[in-house]
Amino acid sequence: MKKLFAILALASLAHVASAAEVVGNAKDAADKKIAMCIGCHAIPGYKATFPEVYQVPMIGGQSAKYIESALQAYRKGDRKHLSMRGIAGSLSDQDIADLAAYYSQQK
Ligand code: HEC
Repeated sequence: MKKLFAILALASLAHVASAAEVVGNAKDAADKKIAMCIGCHAIPGYKATFPEVYQVPMIGGQSAKYIESALQAYRKGDRKHLSMRGIAGSLSDQDIADLAAYYSQQK
């Protein structure tokens, strides 16, 4: 099962990131990492509701590369939002890759 998800994650990354060193594993993110995110970015299916009600951007379904670079920008301080900087500061490269894989696979 783990293997399958790794392959899926790879497949979804392949067309946006040809030279990704860290391969995201959506299953790892789903199991233990998204708990930090759902309080604000909501649960799978978030995209189906009315986005204008929320001030938190939709991340499900965005490209893995975009999510990854956004999180790295928060971690570095290039993006300034305080709570996202706090969150991203606690993430490793692997965490970011896993989360990006997970959210990019949401519809
Ligand atoms: C405390 C609430 C909160 C939590 C928890 C949180 N976020 Fe966010 N997130 C936000 C807000 C608010 C923004 C918009 C910030 C801005 O304007 O820069 C944001 C922005 C983002 C963006 C950029 C989206 C875009 O369209 O540019 C990404 C990617 C993201 N969050 C991922 C995550 C992930 C992954 C987690 C869990 C590890 C997480 N966030 C946890 C509130 C939160």
